[in-house]
Amino acid sequence: MKIQKNKLHKKFGVKITGFDMKTNTKPEDILMLKTLLDDHAVCAVPHKKPLSDSAHIAFSGLLGPVARRSTPKISGTGLRLPYNEIVDQSNLDAQGNIYPNRDKRLAYKRANRQWHTDMSYRTNRATWSLLSAHVVPPKGGQTEVADMRAVYDDLPDKMKLLLEDLTAEHCYWHSRVLGGGPEPTPEERITRPPARHPLVHVHPTSGRRVLYVASHIRSISGMPKNEAIDLLNELKQIAIKPEYVLSYNWTVGDVLIWDNLATMHRGTNFDDQRYIRDMRRVTCREN
Ligand SMILES: [Fe+2]
Repeated sequence: MKIQKNKLHKKFGVKITGFDMKTNTKPEDILMLKTLLDDHAVCAVPHKKPLSDSAHIAFSGLLGPVARRSTPKISGTGLRLPYNEIVDQSNLDAQGNIYPNRDKRLAYKRANRQWHTDMSYRTNRATWSLLSAHVVPPKGGQTEVADMRAVYDDLPDKMKLLLEDLTAEHCYWHSRVLGGGPEPTPEERITRPPARHPLVHVHPTSGRRVLYVASHIRSISGMPKNEAIDLLNELKQIAIKPEYVLSYNWTVGDVLIWDNLATMHRGTNFDDQRYIRDMRRVTCREN
């Protein structure tokens, strides 16, 4: 089947139809997709039916090493999906029921409605995330993605100079609490230690400079806390301008692939007490 490409936003993002992640698995298919991702940072790949979890994992492994669950789960979390490579981004518990409104696990999932990059709190950061839509709500629940290469390019020289040698500490628990979740227990906290990364990095394959910020950032090297908060807010307000952001409306069967080393993203609100949103992610990581 012939592959067709349509832009998702004037600066970045492309939808490719006619590409099937179950069968387009040859080296030339993967090279084409990686080239598109280097250019566009985001690729939407529609399928008639949702990929099986095993096909989702298998395809992701062709792009790069896949992150596996390596830490004990958050207390009380049962596994709905029996794969260590699948991050369950649904609002469903292990039995397939919608989490009650005050459930801690739901609160942590809602924290993903803040702007972030996946796994920036790990030493080996996420490269590509592949999010697959199994059930989508009738209203809300879009994924918004910001092109952090274009954001960096357009920053004033003075700001670029300020950011040049700064590093930030990224902490998973910081963003969970910031997003309205409860403080983790000491046992939970220890399962996900923080990691440090430069605020600006050179993208490993496209060579473009990228502003690497996320709600996971807890502190910036050598900067008083209030100054760091102000700087991060200022950068976020620039990055989420419509000229840098695409909003993706999901259809069941879609897989959205984004490059975490080139973008920042968030899920938008939806009525998570009324509607099911069953999204499953496989994440590739740095070596
Ligand atoms: Fe995410």
